[in-house]
Amino acid sequence: MNNLTQLFEIQKALKQAKYPDYKRISKEIAEYVKNEKDLKRVLNNIKIDKPWEYICGNAEFYTIPFEVNQNVMIPRIETEKLVALAIQEYKDKNFDMVIDIGTGSGCIIISLIKSLLIPTIYKEDIKETEFIATDKSVKALRVVKKNVKKHDLRDLVILKKTETINHINTKDKRVLLLANLPYIPTDQYEKLDKSVKNYEPKSALEGGEDGNREYKKLAEEIEKSSMKSFTLILETEESIIDKTKRLFKKYSPHIVKDMSDKERFLIIRS
Ligand SMILES: C[S@@+](CC[C@H](N)C(=O)[O-])C[C@H]1O[C@@H](n2cnc3c(N)ncnc32)[C@H](O)[C@@H]1O
Repeated sequence: MNNLTQLFEIQKALKQAKYPDYKRISKEIAEYVKNEKDLKRVLNNIKIDKPWEYICGNAEFYTIPFEVNQNVMIPRIETEKLVALAIQEYKDKNFDMVIDIGTGSGCIIISLIKSLLIPTIYKEDIKETEFIATDKSVKALRVVKKNVKKHDLRDLVILKKTETINHINTKDKRVLLLANLPYIPTDQYEKLDKSVKNYEPKSALEGGEDGNREYKKLAEEIEKSSMKSFTLILETEESIIDKTKRLFKKYSPHIVKDMSDKERFLIIRS
């Protein structure tokens, strides 16, 4: 099969499977497959709605490559803004500790550190800061471990299996908390596309009846902690953001919109 015929065949399969962004992905698939057998395997997976990122085992986030498998959510483009907000906050204030809560593939904390290591972005040394990535899933932590190694950050990132910020010693520390915890309300989760529901971990997406189950837990843990000060930057969803905001109302949260003009992030400062 010549290259053009192959590309058409890939595009046809992607269109039939109603793949978004099929032109870009078809080129990536064409570069990825080495032979006819490979192509057949990829197209068979496409036909059963498996996301391309899980087929090739890679996803790009903040222009950085991340290994992914079905134990972690595929990083979403919206979340890139959370990283940009975190960089700004880190530059503006002094933090002893940064905690990425529900790290998944590690995309948030790794993109943040890699950006801070670029001298034109951040001129000071980040070695005084403790960077911690938490997840309640051991299988997810195995993925972030690989990504931390891939990006040569093993000396900088501490991985912890825990719920929210439980068992992390934050006493008297100035802490930057970053969280993209599951926030899809149960009824909305049930209606999600097959490509999401059949492949991505439910524990990474579904946030209980009102979507705020995990953020409630986090709000309680923050109240129990004895941090000196904190900034929490979290991602949520426009349909539930007012309720998420109420969980932290004593800190007067500030709403930030995403690139599609949707109210998606909260910045909460103690
Ligand atoms: C929406 S995914 C986000 C993954 C990654 N941070 C990202 O932005 O792509 C949520 C992650 O939080 C983890 N998680 C869910 N509830 C948690 C909790 N209470 N404490 C810690 N991690 C949790 C899930 O296992 C999953 O990896």
